[in-house]
Amino acid sequence: MISSLRGMNDILAEDYERFTYFINTATEVAKKYGFHFIQTPLLEETALFKRSVGESSDIVGKEMYQFIDKGENDVCLRPEGTAGVVRAFVQKKLDKAGGTHRFYYHGPMFRYERPQKGRLRQFHQFGVESFGVDSVYEDASMIMMASDILKALGIGYRLQLNSLGDQNCMPAYRHNLINFIESCEDEICEDCQRRKITNPIRVLDCKNEKCQSLYVNAPKLLDNLCAGCQSDFDKLKIILDQNDIKYEIDTNLVRGLDYYSKTAFEFVSDNIGSQSAITGGGRYDRLVEFLDGKATPAVGFAMGIERLMELIVMPEVKREGYYLGAMDDEAIDIVVGLAHKKRQNEKVNVEYKSKNLKNHLKGADKVNARFCCVIGTNEMNEGTIWVKDLENKTEEIIKMEAF
Ligand code: HAM
Repeated sequence: MISSLRGMNDILAEDYERFTYFINTATEVAKKYGFHFIQTPLLEETALFKRSVGESSDIVGKEMYQFIDKGENDVCLRPEGTAGVVRAFVQKKLDKAGGTHRFYYHGPMFRYERPQKGRLRQFHQFGVESFGVDSVYEDASMIMMASDILKALGIGYRLQLNSLGDQNCMPAYRHNLINFIESCEDEICEDCQRRKITNPIRVLDCKNEKCQSLYVNAPKLLDNLCAGCQSDFDKLKIILDQNDIKYEIDTNLVRGLDYYSKTAFEFVSDNIGSQSAITGGGRYDRLVEFLDGKATPAVGFAMGIERLMELIVMPEVKREGYYLGAMDDEAIDIVVGLAHKKRQNEKVNVEYKSKNLKNHLKGADKVNARFCCVIGTNEMNEGTIWVKDLENKTEEIIKMEAF
């Protein structure tokens, strides 16, 4: 038997209900915030992710589904959605057009990670990206939107917040941090020794306990912000306070992608085990230029749909539509004909085998139909159909034409 690849799942039945419920709910909220749908290809040039997500990130360094296609192009399956949206934004010359552009998207992403609960190789994200607004109110709006989506789904969360500074304050901080890392270089893990060269701030979220105990004394991002970054971060906290969004400051939150500056945030859940990040995002004011566009401020986030599906509180499913069946073989053709007409406006399930009433009622219940409609010999002779409303528990016999 051929099975699906490790870390790649089928989504069907109850899971699919959850999946679509999530997409519909998140879409409704995104539209309320003025976002429009965008779809970008699953396959892009590898260079796109190297230049955006960054060569020092684990995603690009270790986890890409990368290959040379038949035309000798170096391509890869997208590991995340932001880079493709920025590429489309620049390619469609929206950077030159100016103004504000807000997009939402959803679809599969691919990362060759070690699969475990909540960590897949093909997973799905719902993401939003806002271009052209350099106000910190937009950062706050993003956080409020993510919070609105999670609330609408009945999902509790903790919000972690940090500022990663910008090109004014980060070079000096980086320099201090490298000095600090060098002071304990012999004791840190190999990954951190590599990070020191590629992207030093990534050492701050190293999972190695020994490293973490050393980094307690490292210079803190939040103690080194320039006046502009500091005032934006302070304002962001005030806006969140005013709107009853609770947060925790985590000065080690650096995110796993290299394109962020200033605001960085993650929503985590304490109810899904070790892969607890359910939403991640932040500001990325330099990325449009890095991808050859006109400098444009931008901010966004993405939610991991599989992780959220574990947490969604589904609304009670209401009975819906019709179930049609026959108690005699001769009535089956009539039932199929009636179902065909009824389906022009309603959802209809048809049973092709004749059965007794009790079994038809069971069948209707199984497909969660509102009405169980059955034709027996009497009904056939009289041109009627027996209809039971399974919600109100009432029953009646009606003329087939009226049905
Ligand atoms: P990210 O933090 O890499 O950010 O991913 C966002 C979310 O995708 C995570 O919080 C998690 O819920 C989910 N996720 C990530 N990897 C996996 C996996 N292997 N299996 C299951 N779920 C996973 C980004 O991708 C950025 N593009 C977000 C962003 C948009 N920043 C600005 N705009």
